[in-house]
Formats: sequence, structure tokens, C-alpha cells
Amino acid sequence: MRINLNLKYESLIKFFSAENLPSPDIAIVLGSGLGDFANRFELKKTYRTSELSNYPASTIVGHEGKIHFVESNKKNLLLFQGRIHFYEGYKISECILPVFITNKLGCKKLILTNAAGGINPQFVPGDLMLATSLNGIFIKKELTQLIGLSSVEAKNYLLTLENNSLIDKIKSAANQIGLELKQGTYIYTKGPSYETPAEIQFFKKFGADAVGMSTVHEAIFSTYHGMETAVISCITNLAAGISDKKLSHAEVTETAEMVKEKFSLLLESVIESIA
Ligand code: 6GU
Repeated sequence: MRINLNLKYESLIKFFSAENLPSPDIAIVLGSGLGDFANRFELKKTYRTSELSNYPASTIVGHEGKIHFVESNKKNLLLFQGRIHFYEGYKISECILPVFITNKLGCKKLILTNAAGGINPQFVPGDLMLATSLNGIFIKKELTQLIGLSSVEAKNYLLTLENNSLIDKIKSAANQIGLELKQGTYIYTKGPSYETPAEIQFFKKFGADAVGMSTVHEAIFSTYHGMETAVISCITNLAAGISDKKLSHAEVTETAEMVKEKFSLLLESVIESIA
């Protein structure tokens, strides 16, 4: 059965439409440890998600739970500082709420960012990867409930993100600031545990270059609704067995902190380039 999100989030939709907000030119979901990007701007309006009815509570370190409206160089930005994860106990249909709101506000461009573990041996912690392919094999059923049965034939749990003008702009922006942007496939896992080395080898056989616990459902939902979508992963650590180092959420946030500057420069340059 397909979930009726308009019904589920009726009061939230009403709330936002009563706020008379400008339609954002671009929305950005800021991943684990990457939320600081929002603090580079003069914030026009901030909502604490804990004060919004039906909005799932943010339960993890590095995810603030704030939604910001920003006006920068005559562009309206919508920034989600913190996202909703399945491993926090929420449903996939709840995890896509930031994207649902983005769509309801009439925004046509979305950048999803995240922290991910590197599987590709060419990757090192601190790399940024443009996810040109997304694999949601472990949430086929949930995606079907989200998108509808039509997605069964369309294999909507696999998504290629290669040809849209937002992605072109990200590539050009990276070139312009001299940033080496890696490219690859991101695979989703439900978590909350990190993987074993054997699981990582299995994902590698699936063609995955990076692994994380978010984003794929968000990207599938947003492209389904016609939004130009791009995904940028911050490789915060190497996945189990790729390096001997023990995995920790602390390493994830530490690396994200290290990458903050180049990540921000890239996003700022992209924002600059959108019409
Ligand atoms: Cl190694 N695995 C998963 N599932 N998520 C991650 C990660 C690894 N590193 C950052 N996020």
C-alpha cells in the first residue's frame, strides 16, 4: 500500500503555507557533521524541528534539527541542518520529510549531502564524492510503499544521477575551485551498526564505492517528484576491512570537521552559479 503523505503531514503543510515563505531556489540537506555550513549565512528564518508538529525528533550528535531560510546574493536557500534516519527508529516515509517539505515549497533543486564510509581503495578520508549512482537494495519494500507499485517495474531502488544541470554545476564549481571531486556509487544500509569486512566486500561486488545510512530514499523521492537532485558524500572514514582502523561516529564527525572548508567552498560556488 502506498502511504498518503499529504494526509500524514497535513498540519505541517498548512503551517508552512501560512508562513508565506519564498520558494527556495535551492535546498540543501546537511549530513552528519556538515551542519555548520548553515552558520556561514545570515539566517532569515529558523525553525526548530522539535517545534513543528509531527516532525520526527533529531536524536543524534551532529544533527541539529533546524530548518533555515537564507537569502544570499538574491538567492533563496533552504537549509536542513540535520536529517532523519531510519536507524533512529523512524519509517522511510518519515525520513523523506525534508524532501517532502522542499517539494511542497515549490523548490526545484536539491543537494543531499552525507557522511559515508569509503569502499573504493582510491578514496581517502576527507574526499568528497559526487554520487552518480545510488543503490537502495535493502529498502525495496519501503520504497515501493513510498513511490507506489509502479516502482516495482521501474526498479526505482536504483538511481543514476548523471545528467542534470545541477550536477553539471557541481562539477564546474569543483573545477573552478581546484577541488578533486571523486565520483561513485553510494549504497544505503539501514544501520545502526557499521558493517563487517565481509559485508563491505559484498557491497563492493554490488559496485559500491561508498556506504552510508541515508540519502538513497531521499534522492529517489525527490527525482520522482521532478526535482533536480545531486548527492555529495563526504568520505569520513574507510569502511571495515578497507583499513584496519576501528570505526567510530567520532571519526566521522572529526573528518567532517576537517573537510568543512572545502565542502563549504564547493557549495557556495554552486549556489553562486545557479540562475
Ligand atoms: Cl563505514 N558504514 C555506514 N553504513 N555508514 C557510514 C560509514 C560506514 N561511515 C560513515 N557512515
